[in-house]
Amino acid sequence: MLLNIPDVLTPEELAECRSVLGEAEWVDGGATAGFQSTLVKRNMQLPEASPAAKRLGEVVLDALSRNMLFSSAALPARIFPPLFNRYESRQGFGNHVDNAIRQSSGSGFRVRTDISATLFLSAPDEYEGGELVIDDTYGAHSVKLPAGHLVLYPASSLHRVEPVTRGARTASFFWIQSLVREDAQRSLLFDMDMAIVRLRRQIGDDEAVLALTGVYHNLLRRWATV
Ligand code: NI
Repeated sequence: MLLNIPDVLTPEELAECRSVLGEAEWVDGGATAGFQSTLVKRNMQLPEASPAAKRLGEVVLDALSRNMLFSSAALPARIFPPLFNRYESRQGFGNHVDNAIRQSSGSGFRVRTDISATLFLSAPDEYEGGELVIDDTYGAHSVKLPAGHLVLYPASSLHRVEPVTRGARTASFFWIQSLVREDAQRSLLFDMDMAIVRLRRQIGDDEAVLALTGVYHNLLRRWATV
């Protein structure tokens, strides 16, 4: 499932992220890439353990924790501490698949990467190029969202970031280990949850709505690993 989630950050949170990132020390992003991705990755990153990355990571996690669409779509069990990157001067990231397991440096915190997430922090008119292109069975999807918006996609997908030919693109990126590992099962649960929410709005807590809610939870119980 490829899903755009609008307005994950408030204008204040976005302003804080942009102000901290504007003064941050960036390092070569190749440092944290796996072997295959080192060959195609050209960008800058905030050091994982830097105070700026930790502070802004908390801002992002806090924003995610109150976002119902994110919770419903991702069913998060663990979220990798958000990282931050920057592309400019024709930097890009060629086709790759994200590592299956990510371990946070130092803490030993490990995440199986079921879902990849990119939170856009630059407005689309601040840079040229820089689209996140995600391949799935329906073809290639080009994603470039307003600042503060998030895209979720299966971490198993082949994806790339097109070279940035003008301006700079900053973003936060991270991975989620989901309670429901299979993308197809997670997508069904999300569709069902959204339909139940709409139905409840239309007809209230009708018996049929309660029954469907029960089916949702019983499917989740069947498929979740905690
Ligand atoms: Ni990637």
